[in-house]
Amino acid sequence: MSLQGKTLLITAGPTYEKIDPVRFIGNFSTGKMGYAIAEACAESGAFVKLVSGPTNLNISHKNIERIDVMSGEEMYQACASIHAHCDISIFCAAVADYTPKHPSATKTKRQNDELTIELVKNKDISAELGKVKKAHQVHVGFALETNDELPNAQGKLERKNLDYIILNSLQDKNAGFGFDTNKVTIISKKQVSPLPLMSKKEVAKEIVKLLF
Ligand code: C5P
Repeated sequence: MSLQGKTLLITAGPTYEKIDPVRFIGNFSTGKMGYAIAEACAESGAFVKLVSGPTNLNISHKNIERIDVMSGEEMYQACASIHAHCDISIFCAAVADYTPKHPSATKTKRQNDELTIELVKNKDISAELGKVKKAHQVHVGFALETNDELPNAQGKLERKNLDYIILNSLQDKNAGFGFDTNKVTIISKKQVSPLPLMSKKEVAKEIVKLLF
């Protein structure tokens, strides 16, 4: 019970960015990794505020409060209102980088052969909250890279003012989106620790150990 008394913010799942009332831009994140971390932290005695994008997952633990959101902007607003009261924040969500600039209030009709949707950048939740991180707060982020994995992840650790970044490898065929297993490397300013392929539950326990 070594996270006893700690309050955690965990983001999980994808975000859906509305194009019109029936369509959205999303991604293949299932939320499994974030939910596994939320469970492992709650089992260690922490109180968890789980800010979740749309997923098919259920979670029920007396120490977990789930806050459901849809878009990156909603996720940012929920996190910004909670963050100051949290000891540890774990940014596991696959937030859409861009969102439609002018979502339509009515269903878009099929007309021309081509359709252009103008997109604008979403706020980077981990980077924004990294700017207001206090000395006693710990931030953990995730990175999913397809090339130059280590330098890219280390760059994000720096830019987003994270204490740890968990690099997901897409090189292993059983790791990443949708799988129950993951192959990660835990990176801090001082250390790079590659872990073997393991279940997302075991990865979650390794992450919890960092936080004791
Ligand atoms: O920049 P990239 O999306 O690769 O960074 C991944 C990390 O940043 C993850 O921890 C993710 O949850 C977080 N992130 C975020 N808000 C965004 C984009 C990424 O919190 N808009």
